[in-house]
Amino acid sequence: MRFAPALLLAACGGSGRVEDILALDGDAAAGQTVWAARCASCHGSFGEGGSGPALAVPADEAAFVDVVLYGQGDMSGQEDVVDDQDVADLLAFALEGYTLGSDPCRASTSPCR
Ligand code: HEC
Repeated sequence: MRFAPALLLAACGGSGRVEDILALDGDAAAGQTVWAARCASCHGSFGEGGSGPALAVPADEAAFVDVVLYGQGDMSGQEDVVDDQDVADLLAFALEGYTLGSDPCRASTSPCR
């Protein structure tokens, strides 16, 4: 399975919609709103996980956008319920570590978990 992600990207990397989204300026604050509505129920308010896995800060932005749009494994794609700007905003929020500013809930000793 080591090569599967690369093959997946090769197959999907030319998707016009992924490229279009990566070209947009994301707004992390708007992304947090979309996150709360569409993602937090499975991935937790801060990406800490729940019924879905905890999420790392995306190392590969195109892969993140691809999963959000088209899904992966047990996660269905969200392409029909998020618009391009929503996904760009989600990416900005994810790159902030699924939080905004110095949220105390993100500390490793968080009292919020
Ligand atoms: C119904 C539950 C559910 C919702 C809602 C959901 N996800 Fe997921 N998500 C999952 C599950 C389960 C996986 C693991 C999929 C797999 O690989 O089997 C996943 C995987 C992912 C991954 C890939 C993680 C990795 O390490 O490969 C990302 C990124 C992600 N989700 C982002 C999002 C974002 C952003 C949203 C909101 C637009 C969202 N998810 C909404 C359940 C959900």
